[in-house]
Amino acid sequence: MKLNGIKKSSGLLEGKKVLVTGGSGGLGRGICEVAAREGANVAFTWYNNEKGAQKTEKILQTYGNDYLSINIDLREQDSAGKIVETIVEKWGTLDALVNNAGVSESIPFILIDNNDFYDLMELNLFAVFRLSQAAVRPMIRQKYGRIVNISSIAGSRTIPSPVHYACSKGAIEGLTHSLAHEVGSYGIMVNAVAAGIFEGGLRSTIPEHHQQRYVNACALSRFGTPMECGELVAWLLSDRNTYMNGAVLYHDGGTLG
Ligand SMILES: NC(=O)c1ccc[n+]([C@@H]2O[C@H](COP(=O)([O-])OP(=O)(O)OC[C@H]3O[C@@H](n4cnc5c(N)ncnc54)[C@H](OP(=O)(O)O)[C@@H]3O)[C@@H](O)[C@H]2O)c1
Repeated sequence: MKLNGIKKSSGLLEGKKVLVTGGSGGLGRGICEVAAREGANVAFTWYNNEKGAQKTEKILQTYGNDYLSINIDLREQDSAGKIVETIVEKWGTLDALVNNAGVSESIPFILIDNNDFYDLMELNLFAVFRLSQAAVRPMIRQKYGRIVNISSIAGSRTIPSPVHYACSKGAIEGLTHSLAHEVGSYGIMVNAVAAGIFEGGLRSTIPEHHQQRYVNACALSRFGTPMECGELVAWLLSDRNTYMNGAVLYHDGGTLG
């Protein structure tokens, strides 16, 4: 099987137990692959896309580390506890969490109703809250942990984006700052990656002309790739990151200055 891997492992995450939500999707698969390549045991969640999950499993098998594939709806309130329990039972602990699962839909502000807003928030914000809370318990016990939240440049910049989606991403950036402050003394570091437009996944929800405007504005004149997202996340999760905490990193190829 031809791997997407663009670099050889440097053992950045050797022996770490890493949970990635939304591993059946575009960015999630890239994050899972780089984490496995760097030596981690990867647990990933998926919801509807069984083929996508199988593709990720095949990639993880190629790297040879133990892995877990968990089919779950993260909007269910008890899902977070179940996932963390499963991982701790299997591997003894959880070192790192990547809150990547998210949804969006192209819909004008005037047409968003309460249900649309709540449903999106249930995954994009409340699931991030619940999983982070479940994950910090074992992390506090071991006085070590890493959390990365996948946000979007829409969370804090004036760009075309559905309002409820932008709100959810702005909110997880607030969660990132505040949680980093609260758990830093336990050796837990919390950061967010504000992604520009990346190949695959939710890019398809962005109207063509907005995608073109993005490429025109990008200093690198292209979209990012899921593996590039994985590279940044892996470093943030690793022990080489000793002082980047509570930060929102703009990962957009130099798009908005
Ligand atoms: N692609 C971009 O250009 C871009 C830009 C900025 C930020 N982001 C962020 O990157 C993250 C990943 O997006 P992506 O582009 O990779 O999209 P994607 O391919 O659609 O992946 C989304 C993931 O979320 C999972 N998911 C959806 N609903 C769920 C639910 N109810 N319970 C559990 N999991 C659920 C999906 O699982 P199933 O498919 O198995 O249902 C999938 O694995 C999102 O947070 C997104 O906001 C993406």
